[in-house]
Amino acid sequence: MCGYWRVANALNNGVQRLNPRLEPVCFLSLGGLLLSPLVKRFLSLCFANTPRGEKSMSNAVTLSLEGSVATLVVNRPEALNAINGAVIEALASHVRTLERSREVQVVVLTGAGDKAFVAGADIKEMLSFDPEQAAHFGQLGARVFSALGNLPQVVIARVHGFALGGGLELALSADFIVASSKAKFGLPEVTLGLIPGFGGTQRLAERIGAARALEWVTSAERYDAQEAFAVGLVNRVVAPEELDATVAALAKKISSNGPGAVRAVKAVVANSQRVNAGVGFELEAARFGLRFGTPEAKEGLAAFVEKRPPAFLRQ
Ligand code: CAA
Repeated sequence: MCGYWRVANALNNGVQRLNPRLEPVCFLSLGGLLLSPLVKRFLSLCFANTPRGEKSMSNAVTLSLEGSVATLVVNRPEALNAINGAVIEALASHVRTLERSREVQVVVLTGAGDKAFVAGADIKEMLSFDPEQAAHFGQLGARVFSALGNLPQVVIARVHGFALGGGLELALSADFIVASSKAKFGLPEVTLGLIPGFGGTQRLAERIGAARALEWVTSAERYDAQEAFAVGLVNRVVAPEELDATVAALAKKISSNGPGAVRAVKAVVANSQRVNAGVGFELEAARFGLRFGTPEAKEGLAAFVEKRPPAFLRQ
């Protein structure tokens, strides 16, 4: 585990070098002791519900606790909760907190606002990535998502609206997905000249089978909640107004059972699926990085930001 976090931190530092917006976040955490009482009070209000008084480094992802159920919310509704370096950083920090918690039995993962769970990795941020930066971003995201999925608690993704690209990859890292009938799923990376980079190729194939997963990633089609349910991506589909109550009831039911038994059975079921997945995740992140050295990916990313269709060279 220590080795894992050394690597993650090294990658994390890499992402911070890429993304200057993360530097103030680090400054805040390292300079915590020097903060004025007013700032400390503000931060304690922001993170009042964090288990055992842990402080988060950013509110790009919030963590709250009610009884034995923790809720993680990706909190960038203005960008449909797109995953940037700050989201990954905050998620990593909350996962570390949850790993140590004995009181939390279930973690609910969701996105802020009513339009999207998460609409993918942040295309505007990725626009300037070179292949090495992109490979680091992919590896870091994949490792943080794996750490989330490997939490001792049961992790439920509550999905309403778009779960696309990195957003679907994030939902797939949870133990299972409960969706509203208005959820939309897909891996549109090839429309940008990219491939998934946060473990999606491996996790989708594991969940719905390699042939179906290949159809999904190469066609880049969007699937509604019922279609996702039919192929086993989603455990339950409910009306949007019933989503919160359904997830809460399920979380309550799980956390009312023997906590040691629930943790033990999660570990056993998770291990039944994973043999060589680590190799697959590394390969995916490396190929994701290489895409950023191609004119195709540059065109695909620029076209999204410029709100026009991409003009890919076809030869
Ligand atoms: N990255 C950055 N910004 C995003 C975003 C993303 N993935 N998705 C949406 N946004 C932003 C939009 O740019 C827009 O911001 P502005 O108002 O500043 O222009 C805002 O969120 C609202 O989005 P739209 O106006 O596009 O909303 P819409 O309802 O018309 O469309 C959508 C919704 C279909 C989800 C569309 O936003 C979309 O196609 N998003 C991109 C989906 C995508 O391609 N995801 C994969 C990303 S690559 C990836 O994830 C790589 C990986 O595996 C690591």
